[in-house]
Amino acid sequence: MPVRCQVPRSYCSGLKAALFLWMLSFNFVSANYKNTFSALTVVENPEANDSNGEAHVEDEVDPEDLEVFQPTDQWQTLRPGQAVPAGSHVRLNLQTGQREVKLGEEGSLKYWSDGKRKGMVNTQASSFTAQELKKALKKFKEEGVEPTSKDKEKEEAELRAQYRPIEELKRDMAQLEMLVETDFQIISRLIAKFNHSSSTADEKVAALLDLEYLVHQVDNAQDLVSMGGLKLVINALNSTDLRLQESAAFVLGSAVSSNPRVQVEAVEGGALQKLLTLLATERPMGVKKKLLFAVGSLLRHFPYAQSHFLRMGGVQVLGELFRASGGGALRVRVVTLIYDMIIEKELISQSGLDPIPDSSHQERLRQYAQISLLPLLAEQGWCNLVPELLTSPDHDWREKALRTLLAMMPNCQPQYRQNQVLTHSLSTLQEQYEELALSEQDLGEEDGYFGEILGLLKSVLLKVQ
Ligand SMILES: *[C@@H]1O[C@H](CO)[C@@H](O)[C@H](O)[C@H]1NC(C)=O
Ligand SMILES: *[C@@H]1O[C@H](CO)[C@@H](O)[C@H](O)[C@H]1NC(C)=O
Ligand SMILES: *[C@@H]1O[C@H](CO)[C@@H](O)[C@H](O)[C@H]1NC(C)=O
Repeated sequence: MPVRCQVPRSYCSGLKAALFLWMLSFNFVSANYKNTFSALTVVENPEANDSNGEAHVEDEVDPEDLEVFQPTDQWQTLRPGQAVPAGSHVRLNLQTGQREVKLGEEGSLKYWSDGKRKGMVNTQASSFTAQELKKALKKFKEEGVEPTSKDKEKEEAELRAQYRPIEELKRDMAQLEMLVETDFQIISRLIAKFNHSSSTADEKVAALLDLEYLVHQVDNAQDLVSMGGLKLVINALNSTDLRLQESAAFVLGSAVSSNPRVQVEAVEGGALQKLLTLLATERPMGVKKKLLFAVGSLLRHFPYAQSHFLRMGGVQVLGELFRASGGGALRVRVVTLIYDMIIEKELISQSGLDPIPDSSHQERLRQYAQISLLPLLAEQGWCNLVPELLTSPDHDWREKALRTLLAMMPNCQPQYRQNQVLTHSLSTLQEQYEELALSEQDLGEEDGYFGEILGLLKSVLLKVQ
């Protein structure tokens, strides 16, 4: 925001003029606490002494150039262009922006007269010379302050002018308020941007990426649903623009992550079917990763979606994805998703042994009981697919493969035993990790990472050999 004078214009120039006058002849500034706290009072230095001890402003002033103010013992507003006789108190009233004048202190005053006008001046203080006053007036004019007019209209105009900055201030405040939009407002704006027919693909992608950031928050994701944004995102999944597909899947995955209400909306909105259809067809790796991310987020801790997934042929789609990814990072993501689903059901079943299960928990158990993932995995060749992940040089991937092999043991044990490639690689890996675990121990790590993998290897080998 530009730095501006936040007070009325007339005050700004008045202040400058007052400062100018102060530089000319006043050298004492104090606040007049008794009268107005916010008023700046400019008082002449009583110490100062003019050579002739006489204020003589009125003598030399050209009456056409300026009008000399006649101070009284009351504060009076000084109009722009009016000259102040020596011996007067001048203050700036910060509330009105006006300069105010009154007579100086008794004792050092000298009465003065100018024609019919009467007043007094401070005889002990320096006074303006006509030259100085003319200079001051010139300065006023340069500052854009028009000469005095007693016109009432002008006074009103000045009054209005004092209010103008307040309007400006309001405008600035409104702009500020726009800057501190709530998340709800931002989401609404992004949805509108994304939905607008004139928005370019780049703008739509940008809107989606901004949304993705926001919907990590549970409330924001639910707002996305209530504003109709989730439907738009689901629709964007089958956009012909791959970038839009990818970003839409990204938003969807983040919105449903650990957010049961949004998970329900997304499944009911047909998101799962669309994601699986897209995953089943040829697509760039980046798009597939985001699609798989969205599928995983939809399925995790949501048995209803999982049973839909199984019925829609999801396991088959994942199998094709695994086979097509040829050693790529997608493989471990697919296996991780499968592992998570197996373990999730196992953990729920174990907690079913809880002595005081509530009715909601019983319903949960019932839903998970309907999911028959392990037999389907065995049926669709996963007992032989997961071992392929062991050929990866990555320790984490091997660890994930071993854990999944163990999790699938109840349904895959006969197949594992017949898989000579598997038993061979398990033996080879065992030797390798025994060495690694030993060097780990030499470094003082008793329960190290390699020792953990070795433990998994031994558990699998025990049941396979
Ligand atoms: C002011 O000047 C006059 C004349 O030069 C002198 O008599 C007087 O004492 C001075 N007053 C002060 C307050 O210095
Ligand atoms: C998207 O735009 C269409 C057509 O302009 C409109 O009917 C619809 O309500 C909009 N949807 C949202 C969620 O704003
Ligand atoms: C996506 O497909 C659905 C039907 O499956 C259709 O209603 C919708 O208009 C499609 N959206 C786009 C952007 O093609």
